[in-house]
Amino acid sequence: MLTGEREMDKDIIIGIIGAGRIGKLHAENLVKGNMGVRVKTIADIYMDEDIRSWAKDLGIPVVACNVEEIFDDAEINTVFICSSTNTHTEFIMRCAQTGKDIFCEKPIGSDLSEISSALAAVNKSGVNLQVGFVRRFDHNHKAVRDCVKSGRVGRPEIVKITSRDPEPPPVDYVKVSGGIFFDMMIHDFDMARYLAGSEVVSVFAAGSVMVSEEIGKAGDIDTAIVTLKFENGTIGVIDNSRRAAYGYDQRTEVHGALGCVKTENDTANLAMVSTASGVASEKPLWFFLERYNEAFLKEVRDFIDAIQGRREVSVTGEDAFKAVIIAEAATKSYQENRPVMISEIVC
Ligand SMILES: NC(=O)c1ccc[n+]([C@@H]2O[C@H](COP(=O)([O-])OP(=O)(O)OC[C@H]3O[C@@H](n4cnc5c(N)ncnc54)[C@H](O)[C@@H]3O)[C@@H](O)[C@H]2O)c1
Repeated sequence: MLTGEREMDKDIIIGIIGAGRIGKLHAENLVKGNMGVRVKTIADIYMDEDIRSWAKDLGIPVVACNVEEIFDDAEINTVFICSSTNTHTEFIMRCAQTGKDIFCEKPIGSDLSEISSALAAVNKSGVNLQVGFVRRFDHNHKAVRDCVKSGRVGRPEIVKITSRDPEPPPVDYVKVSGGIFFDMMIHDFDMARYLAGSEVVSVFAAGSVMVSEEIGKAGDIDTAIVTLKFENGTIGVIDNSRRAAYGYDQRTEVHGALGCVKTENDTANLAMVSTASGVASEKPLWFFLERYNEAFLKEVRDFIDAIQGRREVSVTGEDAFKAVIIAEAATKSYQENRPVMISEIVC
């Protein structure tokens, strides 16, 4: 949708689906972030007194157990899809059918043909869709991307991404997450495309259960390394773990023909203490709520600007779809223990 075709500075009335970790985070940012929007409704199939009283304190007037209260409400023109992953594609479709702009958390789904149909419905209805690849809005990763884009390190040759969670999520979350490649590494697949400035052509994945037997019993893995080859010849490597004893480990690096650019983790402060027993500094910030706090705010401001007609949507359904295709290829590669061409997944 071109900016010129959008209604400029319309009132934005929001319904949020999902009152879990990320739904609450976006709700608080929307309400407290001076965004000039109104959060009218939050809906979740699981509702208890804590959620009701949290919503009341935040000034969200409607708390619903049925998402149809959002789709049926003509005043709500924008929906944040923050429910479990297995619901995303269906809710994107419902938003397109009811003419509501969409912010959808990653990933947008795991079934390629269902995602295609939902994206076709989004295009047909003309609603905006932005996807929650929040790391594009992180100051460090964006600085790496800006440096690569400027040509300062020359043509990218190697992209390295480390992404390790401090602790595994609850197993109930894992069961509806789509698996580590769709749930966790999806961020890194998007980051790899963003940093390399090129599309992935093949994927080779290795994985293990090293952290949590429960995750293994649920049919998932918790440790994975994937190598990627890109159209422009760049090679990428991503490592993921569901455990890092020292906190949330989020680093990116691009090595190019003229040099290298990389980031270290954000820490609470940069003080370094040197004594006879060694040199010590702060651990990385604990998890995504701490590390990407600012990025979550920037991401939502960017989306609001887009639906107000002030800019194009910056992370599109197509970006989301491409990351899902890479996740599908990685899953197949892990299962079949061989490199998988993207052309095997989509012709
Ligand atoms: N961008 C990020 O960095 C980031 C971080 C965390 C989670 N996420 C994504 O956000 C989504 C939610 O993750 P979370 O950590 O908040 O999970 P969560 O389990 O804390 O919350 C999910 C909520 O969705 C609700 N829900 C499930 N099915 C529903 C339905 N049919 N209708 C309404 N509500 C329903 C659940 O009851 C739960 O309260 C996942 O897709 C996850 O991948 C993104």
